[in-house]
Amino acid sequence: MKSLINKNIILGVTGGIAAYKSAEIVRHLKKSGSSVRVVMTSSAEEFITPLTLQALSGNRVSTDLLDAESEAAMGHIELAKWADAILIAPATANTLARLSSGRGDDLLSTVSLAFDGPISIAPAMNQAMWKDNRTQENLENLQKKGFKICGPGSGEQACGDVGLGRMLEPLEILELFSSSFDQGNLSERSILITAGPTQEPIDPVRFITNRSSGKMGYSLAEAAIEAGAKVTLISGPVNLEPPPNCNFVSIETAKEMHEAVMHHVKSKDVYIGTAAVADYRPVTFHESKIKKDTDKSSLTLQLQENQDILKSVSELNERPYLVGFAAETDNLLSNAKKKLKNKRLDLIVANDVSNKEIGFDSNENEVTLITNAEEKVLEKQNKKKISKKIIDFISSELT
Ligand SMILES: Cc1cc2nc3c(=O)[nH]c(=O)nc-3n(C[C@H](O)[C@H](O)[C@H](O)COP(=O)(O)O)c2cc1C
Repeated sequence: MKSLINKNIILGVTGGIAAYKSAEIVRHLKKSGSSVRVVMTSSAEEFITPLTLQALSGNRVSTDLLDAESEAAMGHIELAKWADAILIAPATANTLARLSSGRGDDLLSTVSLAFDGPISIAPAMNQAMWKDNRTQENLENLQKKGFKICGPGSGEQACGDVGLGRMLEPLEILELFSSSFDQGNLSERSILITAGPTQEPIDPVRFITNRSSGKMGYSLAEAAIEAGAKVTLISGPVNLEPPPNCNFVSIETAKEMHEAVMHHVKSKDVYIGTAAVADYRPVTFHESKIKKDTDKSSLTLQLQENQDILKSVSELNERPYLVGFAAETDNLLSNAKKKLKNKRLDLIVANDVSNKEIGFDSNENEVTLITNAEEKVLEKQNKKKISKKIIDFISSELT
């Protein structure tokens, strides 16, 4: 089974006898490192209790579409945005029919409609229901629409019939489901990523910094690792855990970041600079704390320019594929294009930080990818999904 580490999975459970096996599916998903949110149809609740699946998944189980409290907690659109993949197991004949016709009259069908990603279904039903032309037509239609069908298996059924229709065993389903994640497209590549702010000391207790949270760089590092790349992450001070399986380098000042980048960039295939590196640092570092001078109502701090890290990397003889970020408050696209050209970048990710709903400390982002040949907008979505799309884009540029 391929790794499901850090994946957000919605498990849809529908009203069939095999619903009791969904408890085991949740357990295996959790064990493989993914976060699981269960969405149950109302019929499913007749076969297994939400409480069991809540206890196993560690998350509240969602059952209602038109319920104000659930909508306020994590509504259908938020669930769809949160998920990396949906697995419906067991999937009844009724749910297959409703998904096939694009119904949106309960939570599971609505989330499936709103979701833009891989959906796998594990059918489970009586052999006669399975054989029925209408079920087979629905299945064919779903397959054409890109749904992945896991099973069913054949054998003795709960009702005593023998034939095709029983749900595959949980581990067989997860084997097929996990292969719906395209992995390894950067398996031969090494990537250097910078993230977070820098801190430019004024005296032992004060420094100049900025609002960068590091979230974008860290989630790009995760996405690159998931795509099979070897990742070195150089980070300023942030409140984030570095992803497992990366070479992590911690720095504070722009000067330290510059040195670390120039040391680690050799033989890297890609350099992604997401760090918000201070353009200037104080000319003088005061060894002792600067005292308040009651005779003066102002204090002048003289600053000097820091070395431009992106420029230094772009001037290397053997330079990696170079990705910069343009966090702008005005004239986003024209400023980003100027930076692409002036710093000789291969790709610039333009990010409007004047909008509080996206950018710096937010969990969501909306960016435009600009190369010399094209411009591509990645619409507002969580940083994890944006990161995956940026990594996919870079990987397609390298091939
Ligand atoms: C005891 C019992 C077992 C059932 N098992 C299945 C089943 O395994 N597969 C199936 O497609 N329908 C089965 N059904 C019928 C579904 O529960 C019914 O079609 C229901 O409307 C499905 O709703 P849902 O798809 O929204 O969960 C069963 C019904 C009963 C009473």
